[in-house]
Amino acid sequence: MQATAQIGVTGLAVMGRNLARNFARNGYTVAVHNRTPTRTKALVEEFGHEGAFVAAGTAEEFVAALERPRRLMIMVQAGAATDAVIEEFAPLLEPGDMIIDGGNAHFSDTRRRERSLREQGIHFVGAGVSGGEEGALHGPSIMPGGSPESYASLGPMFETISAKVGGEPCTTHIGTDGAGHFVKMVHNGIEYADMQVIGEAYDLLRQVAGYSPAAIAGIFREWNKGRLDSYLIEITAEVLAHVDAASGKPFVDVVADAAGQKGTGRWTVQTALELGSPVTTIAQATFARAASGQSALRAAYRGLPGGTRWDLTSCEAERFTAQVEQALYASKLIAYDQGWKMILDATEEFGWEIDLGAVAKIWRGGCIIRAAFLDRIRAAYAAEPGLVSLLSDAGFAAEIADAQVPWREVIATATRRGVPVPAFSAALSYYDSLRAGRLPAALTQGQRDYFGAHTYRRVDREGTFHTLWGTTD
Ligand code: ATR
Repeated sequence: MQATAQIGVTGLAVMGRNLARNFARNGYTVAVHNRTPTRTKALVEEFGHEGAFVAAGTAEEFVAALERPRRLMIMVQAGAATDAVIEEFAPLLEPGDMIIDGGNAHFSDTRRRERSLREQGIHFVGAGVSGGEEGALHGPSIMPGGSPESYASLGPMFETISAKVGGEPCTTHIGTDGAGHFVKMVHNGIEYADMQVIGEAYDLLRQVAGYSPAAIAGIFREWNKGRLDSYLIEITAEVLAHVDAASGKPFVDVVADAAGQKGTGRWTVQTALELGSPVTTIAQATFARAASGQSALRAAYRGLPGGTRWDLTSCEAERFTAQVEQALYASKLIAYDQGWKMILDATEEFGWEIDLGAVAKIWRGGCIIRAAFLDRIRAAYAAEPGLVSLLSDAGFAAEIADAQVPWREVIATATRRGVPVPAFSAALSYYDSLRAGRLPAALTQGQRDYFGAHTYRRVDREGTFHTLWGTTD
């Protein structure tokens, strides 16, 4: 077989197939391969007219079809399947070749695989690909890790097939080894938080303001014209406006209220615990999905006393709606701030050099959290690349200051009414904890010293101290 393909894609389920088509539609010759050859055949039969595909029946044919240095992209399930495919192909490759894992691998697996393939001179690139099947076909946000040399070769191709915002590609070299998959994981954690705060806003508008799903769809459409303008707000309005054809009821009322998850939110929270990154809003969003699925536990709690009900006048409901917009925006800002800080913490832990402004830039298009807001974050880092927090940016600080009173009032109202707002309140508590002059952590240190002689530091003297508890000095 003649080596004519600039890239090869193995694993032709939905994501792999669409990425292969995206490369081909952009003028690249794409070698395609799948464990079960019928998928390869089907792709070429159905979409062969879209560009230049080379169908490979065997692993050897697939590798032989690739120009050197070879670029081989694997799009199979994360975990054991990815290891199996790497083990199959690595012996067929040469030093300088590249294996790109475009699946949703855990970044620590990517670090392990990169280390082991580096010994053979093979570049292993863990690339986060966001945007689902539509994104894969029409332009995803791509977050590649791996060596700078591999990006020199792959970057132009990724830049060609990625989403564009203002003519700029939604991809960049994130950092070495597992940095790309790490950043993709945090993207998904932020996505969980963003969806949860939107859900809480909806619940408040429904239960406290008393609006119908159709009316709330209208409110979200309005919000989508302002600073909350985003793909998630846009689709929220669509979902809320949707009427179930079978029952004639609002779609949202016929869907079982147990949220699913594929695990990237959980990975974000687990990793955050290991890094000591307090991503409380992301954690609450992840736990909220878990709680929604605890049907026996929910049955045990159902019917227990809650808050006080009262009806709002239409004037009060309008005022409350404006307050919810403020609370939603402030909580979202905190969730994003937590995600960015987690990436910053990871740069120190893993020795990555990640351009935090570039992360915002490549999430402006192609991915689920794409939003005008991300351009604000990009601009904040452009003005001050060393930002520790988004709230160190004068614009964001002013917005949080402006949201103060309504944010607190909304959470107070939710608490009195008994409407759950775990992500809103986690965001506000995070904000209040970090802005506090003194924290009760001082008492925690006293307790630890009392029961475990863990010692403490003092505010007025250098050194480490221990008190002989129970004795008089
Ligand atoms: P999706 O969720 O989009 O269906 P996926 O489940 O993540 O995708 O990936 C499925 C792909 O991984 C398929 O191409 C599958 O190959 P088959 O069509 O032969 O089932 C591929 N895959 C899964 N396990 C594999 C393995 N151990 N070796 C090779 N390919 C494997």
